Amino acid sequence: MQFLAAAEILETDLWQQYNELGGVDGGNAAYVAALQNLDADMPQYITDNTDDEVSHAAFLNAYLMSRGADPVDLDEFRTLPSSPATGARQVGRLTNLQKLVVDTSFYTRYRSSENPDLGGDFAQAVKIVNQPAIPVNDTETPPSTGQPVPPVTSAARRMQAIANTASFHFGYIEQGGASLYSSMALKVRDLEVLRIVISIGGVETDHFSLWHDKLGNAVAQPLAGVTDPVTGVTFPDLNNPATELSQTNKILPEPADFLRNGLPEVSVMRPTLTENAGAVATIKSFTADRLFEGQSKKFFATVTALAEAADAARRGF
Ligand SMILES: [Fe+2]
Ligand SMILES: [Fe+2]
Repeated sequence: MQFLAAAEILETDLWQQYNELGGVDGGNAAYVAALQNLDADMPQYITDNTDDEVSHAAFLNAYLMSRGADPVDLDEFRTLPSSPATGARQVGRLTNLQKLVVDTSFYTRYRSSENPDLGGDFAQAVKIVNQPAIPVNDTETPPSTGQPVPPVTSAARRMQAIANTASFHFGYIEQGGASLYSSMALKVRDLEVLRIVISIGGVETDHFSLWHDKLGNAVAQPLAGVTDPVTGVTFPDLNNPATELSQTNKILPEPADFLRNGLPEVSVMRPTLTENAGAVATIKSFTADRLFEGQSKKFFATVTALAEAADAARRGF
């Protein structure tokens, strides 16, 4: 539960950055407009997802204390710079959204009948490497840029690619949360804690489902085909050709292998094994995402210790 509190604090930190720039009161007009090219309700969804994470973190820490356990405090690691772009508060951050390597294999994984827990291997839907997910500064990504569909100017293409990256990052983060909670549920001994883990975990899955739908608009007409002029990251039309593993409207989990061979395919969260979905796997994945770029050795030591303790938890018999 302490690791989950840490994970929720980290989630809150990244969602707050998205919310300041692109939420309902989002301060960066061009970013908001580019997000709204994916769905007019994107700012509302971003703000609501942020509220959820704030509530998850606050509840888990309060619950830990109510049971006589130590809460988790990562404040000393709020050392990373904010984006200087219009809209972002200038405060220290835990996470870095400026140079993400987004693992988009969840997109093909949930369209496939293979399961990573049974050795399944999945292609990237979009190659998003060293790409910002929030505006970088007012010179390179001016907040006054018009954002028509499709974007015509270089500045508009850059901002749209940044918003598209955010949408895939939302899906990536939340599918990870869904798998993490499923994996942690298997370790819980206390029924009240189990109730918490499955009840919050269900909302992580809800988040994933929402973003899985919205991000498809970045890789469908009329928006598909945007290339970031700086990084070269391209969002192709995944409906051309439409295949089971690519078409954007297949957002509900396809039935897949589960547990072992010989059982029928079933629509489930995956992965859920500790080695693929647990706490250490989550920190490794977020590190590969470059979400912690610039963090201190002590930060990695702290979150890794919490993760190892979580993965070592056993429900007994
Ligand atoms: Fe959460
Ligand atoms: Fe979440």
